[in-house]
Amino acid sequence: MSQYYQYDVLIIGSGAAGLTTALTLPSHLRIAVLSKGDLSSGSTYWAQGGVAGVLDDSDTVESHVQDTLTAGAGLCDEAAVRFTVENSRSAIDWLIEQGVPFTRNDSGEADGTNFDYHLTREGGHSHRRIIHAADATGAAIFTTLLARARQRSNIHLIEQQVAVDLISASKLGRQENACLGAYVLNRATDKVDTYAARFVVLATGGAAKVYLYTSNPDSACGDGIAMAWRAGCSVGNLEFNQFHPTCLYHPQAKNFLITEALRGEGAHLKLPNGERFMARFDQREELAPRDIVARAIDHEMKRLGIDCVYLDISHKSAEFIQEHFPTVYERCLTFGIDITKEPIPVVPAAHYTCGGVVVDQQGRTELANLYAIGETSFTGLHGANRMASNSLLECFVYGRAAANDIAQQDALVSPPEHLPHWDDSLVTDSDEDVIIAHNWEELRRFMWDYVGIVRTNKRLLRALHRVRLLHYEIDEFYSNYHVSRDLIELRNLVEVADLIIRSAMKRKESRGLHYTLDYPQLSEHALDTILSPLTPASADD
Ligand code: FAD
Ligand code: SIN
Repeated sequence: MSQYYQYDVLIIGSGAAGLTTALTLPSHLRIAVLSKGDLSSGSTYWAQGGVAGVLDDSDTVESHVQDTLTAGAGLCDEAAVRFTVENSRSAIDWLIEQGVPFTRNDSGEADGTNFDYHLTREGGHSHRRIIHAADATGAAIFTTLLARARQRSNIHLIEQQVAVDLISASKLGRQENACLGAYVLNRATDKVDTYAARFVVLATGGAAKVYLYTSNPDSACGDGIAMAWRAGCSVGNLEFNQFHPTCLYHPQAKNFLITEALRGEGAHLKLPNGERFMARFDQREELAPRDIVARAIDHEMKRLGIDCVYLDISHKSAEFIQEHFPTVYERCLTFGIDITKEPIPVVPAAHYTCGGVVVDQQGRTELANLYAIGETSFTGLHGANRMASNSLLECFVYGRAAANDIAQQDALVSPPEHLPHWDDSLVTDSDEDVIIAHNWEELRRFMWDYVGIVRTNKRLLRALHRVRLLHYEIDEFYSNYHVSRDLIELRNLVEVADLIIRSAMKRKESRGLHYTLDYPQLSEHALDTILSPLTPASADD
């Protein structure tokens, strides 16, 4: 029997964005925080490097702003950048107040700061400004915020719940469109429940699983982007898919990132013969922004026909490496690689979705009472290439802003009138789940091959033809059979892949993470790619 729930605020996603929003909301509101897997299933738990912010007296807001604008290759929204950076200190102070155990600056190292915590450095940053908890910052933040949320009786944390679609007034034929809740698959009962809510917050993370090789956990399927799109919201800049330059290359390693902070602390990228190569691509060498480093590695791998390049920090003392990078050290050791003595085999992999659901500075989408926060959103902060450690910062700054906005709207928004239950009277159980597995594989492979680090018109067109075919097949499957987590995710991945390809085809230049051999130049005018569900795909250039 499916259930009907009523909340003040429904937050879909239990990562940095979702938990920050929940914890900042007033305690008289009844809040549900959903996760489609375990509560730790998002990217947040796996974040290594840290959170960027203006934290010591020798750094300035202007410097962080300028670094972000430069990394974003002329496409950042400067107002969003300033808003985020200006609020970085208060967001990080809030994390410290919550009890996040950031690494203290008690090692006696001269790092040039007067701040009590150790600050590291990553690509694109002209300053040491990344606060971190050794190399497991995400786990430290997640564990702390989760513990805080568990102490709050008004916050209900509910795992294994997969949001299928948003419920909007217009879908129900009601007047004055607004978001009213969501249909959610309960994985324990296999029933789709109805969650009615006065406010809905999408905090569902990114879509890097659209690519075959990724640093992301399995949850990163772009569910929020697809749900918002189907509910009528515009999406922005989805062609900018960030590939992290250094993921561990090993047959048994799935999704293991080698943090950029290694390069921040002096690690060198090398070819198999030991030669360093980054100076040939950028004068900032290993600390150039990520798009440049990933493209350089891709170029060298293709030029030499090699499977990986190497990241070497073995010239630093074993003590330094073990103290700063205990997670990377231990994990590599399980694969027989002692990073204190030998270089690490690495390859680029899909890491971060710079675009997403279009929102304003309070995280409001175009649909009333629907917010989107964190990696699922498009705030304008990242432009054509996100600078390292700005994404967790965005989750905290916009999560807090959205919560404050909801608090202000609280008195103005009534609970939705009774919503209809999910109707599955016309569907049956599938006896062909192999189609889902096959289509997952096919989609992720052609996205990797045709819509990856280097693109061409021809490759994008090939990808478009294939995605349209899959779209048709999966829509048909979805209309005929009961939903499952795999089907929901595949349906969303195909939707987002289609939007990524369409966005990439509209950009007739190379900028930041979008590099195409057909338009290698930068256009004079920097324009966002905004797609609206109200405009037919045939209207794309
Ligand atoms: P997530 O943390 O991904 O959480 C998404 C949540 O939504 C999960 O709870 C998931 O279960 C839930 N969800 C998704 N779909 C549904 C659905 N349909 N129904 C119900 N629930 C759903 N950024 C930095 O700034 N610094 C770093 O050092 C850093 N390191 C990183 C290292 C790795 C390995 C990775 C993968 C990313 C890293 N990033 C880093 C990026 C950063 O971690 C993410 O951008 C950020 O954590 C995203 O947070 P989020 O709250 O938006 O989403
Ligand atoms: C890393 O630690 O290299 C990841 C940092 C980020 O994605 O911002």
